[in-house]
Amino acid sequence: MNSPKTESAAQRARELREQIAEHNYRYYVLADPSVPDAEYDRLMRELVALEREHPELVDPDSPTQRVGARAAEGFSTVEHEVPMLSLANAFDTDEVIEFDRRVRDTLDVEPVVYTAEPKLDGLAISLRYESGRLVRAATRGDGRSGEDVTANVRTIRAVPLTLRSNDAPDSLEVRGEIYMTRSGFGALNRGLEADGQKTFVNPRNAAAGSLRQLDPEITARRPLRFFAYSAIVHAVSADSTGAGESLGRCQQESLERLADLGFPVSSMATRVEGVDALMGFYRQVQDNRAELDFDIDGVVYKVDDFDQQRELGFVSRSPRWALAHKFPAEEEMTRLERIDVQVGRTGKLTPVARLEPVFVGGVTVTNATLHNLDEIRRKDVREGDYVIVRRAGDVIPEVVRPIVEKREGDLPEWELPAHCPVCGSHIEQVEGQADARCSGGLVCPAQRKRALEHFASRNAMDIDGLGTKIIDQLVERELVQDPADLYRLDAETLAGLERMGEKSADNLVGALQASRKVSLGRLLFALGIREVGEVSAGALARHFRDLDALMEADVATLESIRDVGPVVARHIREFFDEQRNREVIANLLDNGVEWYVEAAPAPQEQPLKGYAYVLTGSLETLTRSEAKKRLEALGARVTGSVSKNTTAVIAGDEPGSKLDKARELDIEVLDEVGLQELLDSV
Ligand code: IVH
Repeated sequence: MNSPKTESAAQRARELREQIAEHNYRYYVLADPSVPDAEYDRLMRELVALEREHPELVDPDSPTQRVGARAAEGFSTVEHEVPMLSLANAFDTDEVIEFDRRVRDTLDVEPVVYTAEPKLDGLAISLRYESGRLVRAATRGDGRSGEDVTANVRTIRAVPLTLRSNDAPDSLEVRGEIYMTRSGFGALNRGLEADGQKTFVNPRNAAAGSLRQLDPEITARRPLRFFAYSAIVHAVSADSTGAGESLGRCQQESLERLADLGFPVSSMATRVEGVDALMGFYRQVQDNRAELDFDIDGVVYKVDDFDQQRELGFVSRSPRWALAHKFPAEEEMTRLERIDVQVGRTGKLTPVARLEPVFVGGVTVTNATLHNLDEIRRKDVREGDYVIVRRAGDVIPEVVRPIVEKREGDLPEWELPAHCPVCGSHIEQVEGQADARCSGGLVCPAQRKRALEHFASRNAMDIDGLGTKIIDQLVERELVQDPADLYRLDAETLAGLERMGEKSADNLVGALQASRKVSLGRLLFALGIREVGEVSAGALARHFRDLDALMEADVATLESIRDVGPVVARHIREFFDEQRNREVIANLLDNGVEWYVEAAPAPQEQPLKGYAYVLTGSLETLTRSEAKKRLEALGARVTGSVSKNTTAVIAGDEPGSKLDKARELDIEVLDEVGLQELLDSV
C-alpha cells in the first residue's frame, strides 16, 4: 500500500513532468516559451529533489533521466528497416525546371504541389518510438545500417522522450536532422579554447563530434538541436512486410502531425505550386539565410502528395519525388604561397597549391589540388598570386582562378620540376598526355609508400592496421623497401615505431600473418600493375589460375581475355618483364605468401551463368566490389565495359559514360532497387 505522502508525491511528480514537457514543447516546437528559463529550472530542480526523496518514483522517461546511461565502449550497429536514402542535387535553375518537368510528365498533373523546406546542414538521424516511448536512435551510416546512439540522443532536449499524443501509432520512426545552433557552436568553441582543447571547424562537425561521444554526459553538455522532416509508421505484427506507411496523406500533413506529437519541425516549410514558386522559395530562403541561427546548405523540394510520391518511386539511392537545390559554393580570396608536387603510386605527379589558410565553405583550407600542368596553364595560376578558392559542402576545395589585377610585378609561369622532388629521378612527360611521371619506380620513396599503401589496402592484401603513418615510418627508416619486406617484420621492430604500442605491434604481426593466404586475384591487384584494377585482376586469375602461366603470357594471349584491353595487356607484360618485379614476387612467395584460386561455385548455384553485367556510379547500400562479388557468386560475369554482350548496366549515383553507351546500344539499365530485386529473386 502506498502511503498518502507517496501518493501526493507521485501526483506532484506527474504534474511537474507534464509541465516540463509542455514547456519543452512550447520552447522547441512552437518556439514560443511561456515561462522564463529560471522558472523552467526551478521545476526541474523540484522534480530532481522529489525523485531523490522517492526513488521509487523515478521513471526512465522522466526529463531528469535524459543522461541515464554510462559511457559506452562503442556503438552497436542498427539495421534500418527502411533504408535511409539521400537526395538528388541541383545546382542551378535549369536542373530544377528539368526536375519539375519530369515530375509533371510522370504524374500527368499540372501544376504539381510541393512542400519546400530548408536543407539543414547537420546529421540525419532515425528515432524509433514504440508505444509512445523513444526506444532507439540510430545514425544514417551507409543508409542500410547505422550506429546506435540512443543514449546520446536522449540527452537532446528537443527530442521528446515520449510522444505528446495518445493516438500516436504504436510503432513510429521519425527521421530528421540533428544540428548545432551557430550561437551554441560559438559558445562551445570559446569554452573548449579556454580549456586548451581542440575546437571544431563548423557547427556540422561539432554536431557530429558531439553525437559520437562515448560518454552521454559530454553529449548532454553540447548545444544539440533537432528538426524532424519525415515519419514512417511501422507495422507491429511480425508477419507484416515492414515496408512502412506514411503519417498522413501528404508531406505538409505529416509535418503538422509530427509537430502535434512533440517534434520540432522547420517553420519555414511551405506548400507551394509549380516551379516558379519553388524558385521564389529558394530566393527567399537564400536572402534570409544569414539571419538564421543554424546552417543550411540549400532547400529541399518534395512532391507533397504521398500517392504521387509512390507513383514516382526511386532511382538508385534517391527518390524521384524530391530534389535538394543547393546554394552556390562559397568562394574566398587568398594567396597561393607556392605550388608543391606530390608523387602518386604509379609516379604520377600532382601539383598542389599551398594556400595561406582561408575559411571557406565552413572549413579552413590550406591545400588544393591543381591536377596537372595543363590545368595550371589553362587557369594561369602562378606562385604568389591571389586566387579565388571555392568549396561546396563536402566537395574538395578548388582554385577557381587567379586575380590577375592583383598580381605583383611579373610572376613567372610555374614549371614542372625536371627531377622528382622526392627521389631526384628524371620526370617523364609523354607527348599528348597531361600527366607527368617520376621515372624512379620503386626506387622513389614516395612511390614506394603509395604502392605499399595500395598493397595493404582492404581490397588487396587487406592488412589491418598498416596505415599511412606506419608505412611512412617503415620506408623512411629503410625497414621496408618492397612489399615482401613487410613479411620479414617482427613485433619488436614494429613496437619501436611511433604511434605503435606492443599490443598494436602484435596485432599487426597477426594481420600480416593472416594476409599471407590470399586469392590470386587479390594478389595480382595488390601488386599494383598499372591499370589492373580488381575486375581485370579477377579476370586474369580466373583465366590463368596460375601465377607462372600469367607471368609468361604474351600480349596477344592477354588481350584475348575479357576485361583486358591492349593497353592493359601491354602494362601487364611490361610489369612482368621487369626483373625487379619478378624478384618482389619471388620474395613474397619465399616469405610465406600463398595464393589460391577461388573455387568456382557449383553449377546448380549459378542462376546467372551466361549473363554479363556492368556496374557504374556509386551504389548506396553496398559497395561496387560487394555488388560484383554477389553477382559473380551467382555465376554472372561483371565486366568493365559495355558491349552488345552486356545483359544489363547497373547504374548508381553519378554514373559515367557507361550509361550513355548502354543507352546507345539499347542495353537494359537497372537502378539499385533493380539490382536488389535481381539478387533477391535468384
Ligand atoms: S528528406 C529520401 N528533408 O539531406 C531522402 N533531408 O541528401 C530523405 N536533409 O541525409 C531526406 N534537410 O539528412 C530531407 N528537409 C530535409 C532535409 C534533409 C537536410 C539531409 C538529410 C539527408 C540528406 C539528403
